[in-house]
Amino acid sequence: MRHFDYIVIGSGIAGLTFALKVAARGRVALVTKKNRAESNTNYAQGGIAAVSQPNDSFAMHIEDTLRAGAGLCNEVVVRAVVEQAPERIQELIALGMEFTREDTVSPDGERGYALGREGGHSARRVFHAKDATGREVERALLAAVDRQPNIEVFEHRFAVDLITTRKLRRAGENRCLGAYVYDAQSGAVETFVAPVTALATGGCGKVYLYTTNPDVATGDGVAMAYRAGAPVSNMEFVQFHPTCLYHPQAKSYLVSEAVRGEGGVLKTVDGREFMNGAHPMQSLAPRDIVARAIDREMKRSGADHVLLDITHKPAPFIISRFPNIYETCLGFGIDITKQPIPVVPAAHYQCGGVVAGLDGRTEIPGLLALGEVACTGLHGANRLASNSLLEALVCAHHAAEVVGDATAMEAGEIPQWHSGDATDPDEMVVVSHNWDEIRRCMWDYVGIVRTDKRLLRARSRIEGLREEIAQYYWDFKVTSDLLELRNIATVAEMIINCALQRPESRGLHFNLDHLDLDPAWAQRQTVLRREP
Ligand code: FAD
Ligand code: SIN
Repeated sequence: MRHFDYIVIGSGIAGLTFALKVAARGRVALVTKKNRAESNTNYAQGGIAAVSQPNDSFAMHIEDTLRAGAGLCNEVVVRAVVEQAPERIQELIALGMEFTREDTVSPDGERGYALGREGGHSARRVFHAKDATGREVERALLAAVDRQPNIEVFEHRFAVDLITTRKLRRAGENRCLGAYVYDAQSGAVETFVAPVTALATGGCGKVYLYTTNPDVATGDGVAMAYRAGAPVSNMEFVQFHPTCLYHPQAKSYLVSEAVRGEGGVLKTVDGREFMNGAHPMQSLAPRDIVARAIDREMKRSGADHVLLDITHKPAPFIISRFPNIYETCLGFGIDITKQPIPVVPAAHYQCGGVVAGLDGRTEIPGLLALGEVACTGLHGANRLASNSLLEALVCAHHAAEVVGDATAMEAGEIPQWHSGDATDPDEMVVVSHNWDEIRRCMWDYVGIVRTDKRLLRARSRIEGLREEIAQYYWDFKVTSDLLELRNIATVAEMIINCALQRPESRGLHFNLDHLDLDPAWAQRQTVLRREP
């Protein structure tokens, strides 16, 4: 058994920020599934939203967030996050984060920060590091972790399940005691114990066939918390990013919304600007609207993509503002200064998650949920661009404040992980087949546009697969692929069940059988809870 004061699962912006903030008070185990930079955070492009200019205001950022959230945001949370954004940005800068600055020098000799604009934002307010903001976030935070002797980083360690008093069949409240962690290199499963366990495992884009997310995004945290008995909310609100590069060899490459923020225009393959008339903000409308318009155009014309055109901007500007997108597209034979970019929507962000406060506290004492894994009420039915990295920063900060000094916990006797009669897996084809089947089923039946019939069909398919996977899980020794498969199946089922609960179309959840908003659901969150 490994004992710590804090266990942090995940090394994206949420986990790293929390770990750094509590490290002065106790020993931290930072457990992460692959190498330590691998995370959704590392691929973030657009940036972090925060009000900083006289022509902008907290009221405007709040209003934009609420409008995107389609009535389901928690206003108290929205206000707190928006108002704390400037302070959290300054903190990142103090840690060493380098945001892009303006080219021009002001009369007092300063170069201010260059601010981007994205869909649904009524002002320029997005702090960014060119078009690779997340990479710079990870660089700065990981460098700070290296300076912190109290944080021990465990790479290639996969949290399998939370250890709770309920699972150990102890009387009294259900409390989190730590986690079982699989060492992907040795194959052993170790027991990590601490008074505080912070889930910072990110989202679940890999549940869908097409996604902007890296391979680590398999919804492990939300699945683990659910199995442990924590309530999970609003999983029907999966955000599809409108513009993922469409190319046979390009695996999940995002073309940032900032491209549209700088004037990029969406067109059909025959050159028609189809967002005119679809929304007053045209190509810069919120994501749900743009993704649905693209889906509609592709279905109408039979084309397998649409185009994003920024060729009307000067080439030096495009290359300097979007150096990574320019280089990546060029690698696929597309010169974005001269040719429109072929794009399609792809699963991008999980708005729902483990029910948690702004301070990360969940219903289970000892368990925090931070970042994309959590559902705090900030995003409601649709997240505003560049509010996610911000939410992670604010929540990690609050969580570190409320957990205080980790109090000693009497963990008692915790059984070691026991493989029982499990043998080595005999047919990995079962695992890979089920992976593909779930992801395709979710894409085809539980995607941008849903119907009751498709949702019910998806539910029965996923139920069958879950039974098969459960059998496989008990019979064979765990592997990373099998653990992830078990989690994507659980998360798929949660998305479907939440979608079936909501008898309306709101924000990201669009159901052709219930096209209107239902006033009775205006304030209602869907909630799932696994009974003991
Ligand atoms: P992540 O950064 O995803 O980190 C999760 C961590 O948990 C990873 O280290 C992972 O390996 C680890 N992990 C997962 N499961 C386990 C397990 N079982 N055991 C151990 N470790 C585990 N948002 C913005 O606000 N602005 C943007 O510009 C922006 N651009 C984006 C671009 C892309 C391509 C993508 C995919 C997302 C973007 N987002 C953006 C969303 C944003 O990046 C994420 O929501 C945010 O980074 C989530 O941070 P996190 O710390 O919660 O999770
Ligand atoms: C992007 O750069 O388009 C992603 C921004 C986000 O997801 O917030």
